[in-house]
Amino acid sequence: MKRKIVLTYKKNGTFNQAVLTIDKKSLNILNLKQDEMVVYLSYLNNEIILKKTDNKRVEKIIIDKDGNLKELSKNINLNISHSNKEKGYFNYKLTIPVPIVKAMELDKDPNVDIRVEKNNIIITSLKNKDYKNYIVEEPEEIVFREEKSEYNQGGKMNNIFTVKVNKGGIGKTFFTVQIGHGLALQGYKVLLITSDSQNNILHYTKNKKEIDKYDLSKGLRHAVLYGDNRDLYIKIRENLYFLPTESSIFSESFEKKFDNFIEKKRIEYDYIFIDSIPTMDIDKKFMECSDQLIIPTFCDYSTYEGTLNVIEEVGANKIHSIVINLFKNTKIQKKYYAEFEKSLLGTGIVFPKPIKELSLIENLIENGKTIWESGSKLLIDAQNSFADVISKIIEKRS
Ligand SMILES: Nc1ncnc2c1ncn2[C@@H]1O[C@H](COP(=O)(O)OP(=O)(O)OP(=O)(O)O)[C@@H](O)[C@H]1O
Ligand SMILES: [Mg+2]
Repeated sequence: MKRKIVLTYKKNGTFNQAVLTIDKKSLNILNLKQDEMVVYLSYLNNEIILKKTDNKRVEKIIIDKDGNLKELSKNINLNISHSNKEKGYFNYKLTIPVPIVKAMELDKDPNVDIRVEKNNIIITSLKNKDYKNYIVEEPEEIVFREEKSEYNQGGKMNNIFTVKVNKGGIGKTFFTVQIGHGLALQGYKVLLITSDSQNNILHYTKNKKEIDKYDLSKGLRHAVLYGDNRDLYIKIRENLYFLPTESSIFSESFEKKFDNFIEKKRIEYDYIFIDSIPTMDIDKKFMECSDQLIIPTFCDYSTYEGTLNVIEEVGANKIHSIVINLFKNTKIQKKYYAEFEKSLLGTGIVFPKPIKELSLIENLIENGKTIWESGSKLLIDAQNSFADVISKIIEKRS
């Protein structure tokens, strides 16, 4: 089957990259799972072979003494592109490594022949061949409709939130869990991710013995860089999923690939919450791809000032809600509460009643339970405050 590789060029007219669309049939041949984003590519003798990847595949590159590429083998990520987001149509795109493009001279003639042998896809250049008799077939689009949640019928997306505060211990992880679970209980499909390799989300939702069962050596990093698959996700409650983080160090290539990854998740899930660690560069990346921020804060001078600085920095529009946590009814805390009220008036930022510091909350967290799983009357105020945030989140999407 003849197919044309799409070449793109830089502003100055030089070659940039060569991209091949992988169609549905080929995807079936490779037996890729819907959320598997990686294939094993090998180049030899003017031929590219694509195979399903596994742990045994070796990566190698051989260049002869004249500097010509002889052999190249590597796991390579596929990119997803939405041709119709609302209908859930996708295409997989393979960016052919530049040394192969040069060796096969695809930049001069992008016509290729694609054929299937056993479970492999074989791509050869049509250079010097009479390819007039070939029939050009347009790749068939892939529909992942069943992946989409019943509530997420496309349309306006406003569903990624980072829970952020430039200070430790104010309640980022606690908020992420309570808001995520609150939405999950209403039937929305929710994903929690984190840049914190401590993966505290598990400690706040599972009992300690259970946590040891999970393999946390593969998570977000693996999903973004080496291929996403369902086994990486931990179901922590009905409709509530957690993708752990194996390391808090994120490479440049992770950052590059993250956009693509999160855009796919945006469609799969109704809501995504990112529990951050603010000292890392990655925080900036997560904030960029978030629609809005949810800010836990505290009633003292430095946190109050810090919160106002964040509003100034990112703009009030980027902030969904600011919620005071660990509140005690002291004179000083009441004073800062009043200051917050004054400062947030008219900004459109959701500002519910403060969440009190309660030993009951501490106990729930310790036992891996959320505030929605206790019938205690002491929690009604906290539940109401989180319910305010949740209802505004739901309101905003419709
Ligand atoms: N309203 C509350 N009442 C009592 N204890 C609370 C409350 N909110 C949070 N805590 C406790 O405060 C501690 C810090 O909360 P949390 O881990 O959510 O903060 P964090 O901002 O995620 O911290 P880090 O920056 O370390 O990730 C936890 O031990 C939690 O049990
Ligand atoms: Mg935390």
